[in-house]
Amino acid sequence: PEDAAANADGVLEIGGVAVTELAERFGTPLHVYDEAGLRRQIRRFVDGLRARWPNSDVLFASKSLPAVGMYRIAQEEGIAVDVAGGGELRMALAAGVDPDRLYFHGNAKTDVELRMALDVGIGTIIVDNDDELDRLERLLDRPQKLLLRVIPGVEATTHASQATGGLNSKFGLPIDQAMRAITRMQAHPLMVFEGVHLHIGSQILDTAQFAEAVAKISTVGTFGTYDVGGGLGVSYTYAEEAPSVESYLDAIVAAAQAHLPADARLLIEPGRAIVARAGVTLYRVTTVKRTGRTFVAVDGGLADQMDIALTQQRYEAIIADRLLEPWTETAQLVGRQCESGDLLVDGVRMPPARVGDLVVMPATGAYAYTMSNNYNGALKPAIVFAREGEARLVTRRETYHDLLATHAPAMADVLI
Ligand code: LLP
Repeated sequence: PEDAAANADGVLEIGGVAVTELAERFGTPLHVYDEAGLRRQIRRFVDGLRARWPNSDVLFASKSLPAVGMYRIAQEEGIAVDVAGGGELRMALAAGVDPDRLYFHGNAKTDVELRMALDVGIGTIIVDNDDELDRLERLLDRPQKLLLRVIPGVEATTHASQATGGLNSKFGLPIDQAMRAITRMQAHPLMVFEGVHLHIGSQILDTAQFAEAVAKISTVGTFGTYDVGGGLGVSYTYAEEAPSVESYLDAIVAAAQAHLPADARLLIEPGRAIVARAGVTLYRVTTVKRTGRTFVAVDGGLADQMDIALTQQRYEAIIADRLLEPWTETAQLVGRQCESGDLLVDGVRMPPARVGDLVVMPATGAYAYTMSNNYNGALKPAIVFAREGEARLVTRRETYHDLLATHAPAMADVLI
């Protein structure tokens, strides 16, 4: 986070709060966000896009951090929100986001979800396929704004599980089929077809690929709205370089100026680039084992940091309460789940670790909490926002009671 620094005792502070205090007060594993940094990053996108293309809007891709406290920040900062399913929709509404500022995504929306979205007066539905149009034909009883997701045919350079714009993608329709779907929407009295959507993938570090996608989508036709998705990558390690928000905006707006109608509305959907670097995960070291190698095991792992197993993303890690000590050992930072793939960092320099140390993994603010799960009976961590020396709990830690309430309600209050 921008607002992170070592204090005089060699302890990391985030938003002016020492990690030792955060761990004691809220427990570990813990997701901690620099709230001022989050808000600044949202404004960078919103102001930056508006300055370059005034008829524009930024949608927060809420799958990157679907927490009611985060939806509330989005609402306060005036950014629109993309939700991908009934759960995210409910959380956004619970935070007080104006339904008209919501965009509903998904390649397999159900009747129940669509009905829920229509009932609450959702602003825009991003249609993925013809079956969804069949559903809408049955369900619509008043005019509804729609965009159509189109496959641009751009193979982004990123991990295969994060690439979504190639011709074999499961998301959206190829251009020829998209044109037929658009004709269908334009002919329907209650379908208010506004334009097209694309999303080429996530953790993309080459801005030329976004520009290429804008050029491709312009060939579908002339519409009022073009939503060019999210996907801007971030730097996860000291060595990894990522484009700035501003250079990304320069690239897509230059492409929009070259290819899109001058009066069109331009939408973007960043997720990762807003939240990733504002968040860290805080763990407590539970075991240090020096066999052939040094294994430093912490009280979380793959259950709360799934994307490492999914995408092999490399992260850094630091012992956050002993920052001033020399980093003399190379360790395998591992989690506590029953998989050898539960490797948080493969070889990280740190002071010789001890049981009880606090380990921070920086840049874990995106797609960590949202993919956390109950593997090995793990409990989903809490989320805390820190700002100007104050920390507040925005999502509480799961409890054994929660776990049993799902699996054996009658036992939930008995076995604690
Ligand atoms: N729009 C759509 C339609 C998306 O599917 C996504 C992300 C975004 C926007 C935001 O993309 P971003 O700006 O955050 O890159 N689980 C993976 C990431 C999956 C991304 C899913 N879609 C991971 O751990 O890296």
